[in-house]
Amino acid sequence: MKLLVCGGAGFIGSNFVRQRVLEHGDAVTVLDKLTYAGREENLRDVADRDGYRFVRGGIEDAAAVADATEGANAVVNFAAETHVDRSISEPDAFIRTHAMGTFVLLEAARSRGIRYVQVSTDEVYGSIEDGSFTESSPLAPSSPYSATKAGADLLVGSYHHTYGLEALICRGSNNYGPYQYPEKLIPLMILNALHGDALPVYGDGMQVRNWIYVEDFARGIGHVLEHGVPGHAYNVGGPDEAANIEVVRRIVELTGASEGLIEYVTDRPGHDRRYSLGSEKSRALGWSPQVRFDDGLERTVAWYRDNHEWWEPIRSGDYRAYYERQYGRALGERLETLD
Ligand code: NAD
Ligand code: DAU
Repeated sequence: MKLLVCGGAGFIGSNFVRQRVLEHGDAVTVLDKLTYAGREENLRDVADRDGYRFVRGGIEDAAAVADATEGANAVVNFAAETHVDRSISEPDAFIRTHAMGTFVLLEAARSRGIRYVQVSTDEVYGSIEDGSFTESSPLAPSSPYSATKAGADLLVGSYHHTYGLEALICRGSNNYGPYQYPEKLIPLMILNALHGDALPVYGDGMQVRNWIYVEDFARGIGHVLEHGVPGHAYNVGGPDEAANIEVVRRIVELTGASEGLIEYVTDRPGHDRRYSLGSEKSRALGWSPQVRFDDGLERTVAWYRDNHEWWEPIRSGDYRAYYERQYGRALGERLETLD
């Protein structure tokens, strides 16, 4: 296939591009704005492959999108602002990218008559106490992040319904694995534990997430791209659920850090309590997750331990200022109780 992958320099997008180029032999153009979360070095394994092209630009920029779409027979859109905490403190970019950006991409796919896959999230369904969401569950997003992602999903659906665009939606649960920016729970806790920094757990730590190893999600998106029915949404959820505090305790064990680093901090405003995705529909397409959480977490800890050169520039750059704003203390500042 000849794919345009938007947001391909981020965490999940770069894992997807690696699979499509190395395992499927696809020709891939990546369109990415390179925000704080996007890095061209995430794609260095494929950068010299025939058919690979990188275009720097925003999905809301029609000229950049027109250039990048040239020759593509499908678009897969990962491009997004993805951190819930940032959507609470600075929602502007979420609205621009998810609303305007998705619109510009849909118009480009419509004018060329090519297939379009929107990468979305379980957060559009909101929080669920028991059971799991199916694709027909109502959308009830709670944060500016999930509300703008839900808005984008609705727009994608409307382009299928109104214009007959071959559009599909793929909703994933919480991803973890290599190349994830360390603002997210798992890489943040791994790097802090390796450095002996505090492990900030929001609220009571009993919020539950449905974890999926990133390579499983990327493969699920490929499956939906190839076998999904236009006009449909597909949930692609992980095999295991865990409360945040259990995840943090497991990371403490795997890194050999002290449990004394765990610190309960002020909860996230509007914090969703539990996510859980039923994925029977994507399983019926022949996809299933291969990596259980215990194994994937061990691999992820090993990857961060072995790839200092990947995270050192992040931990010594703008991330420090973000961390200070978010946690009210400098990165590396020790807990008083430990001194
Ligand atoms: P990420 O933050 O690691 O990467 C996002 C990428 O998009 C970056 O490369 C960034 O530079 C790029 N980008 C941002 N705004 C852009 C714009 N306007 N134009 C072009 N590029 C832009 O994100 P991720 O965790 O890899 O998530 C990818 C997608 O998967 C998102 O749509 C997200 O909503 C969805 N998703 C994420 C998870 C998760 O657990 N991380 C779970 C389910 C779904
Ligand atoms: O569910 C899919 C979603 O998962 C994606 O759509 C989002 O892009 C992705 O960021 C993620 O959202 P969450 O809010 O679930 O992920 P995050 O890693 O920010 O937090 C996971 C849980 O851990 C959540 O309950 C908040 C908690 N947490 C997070 C951080 C960063 C803490 O307790 N302490 C922390 O420092």
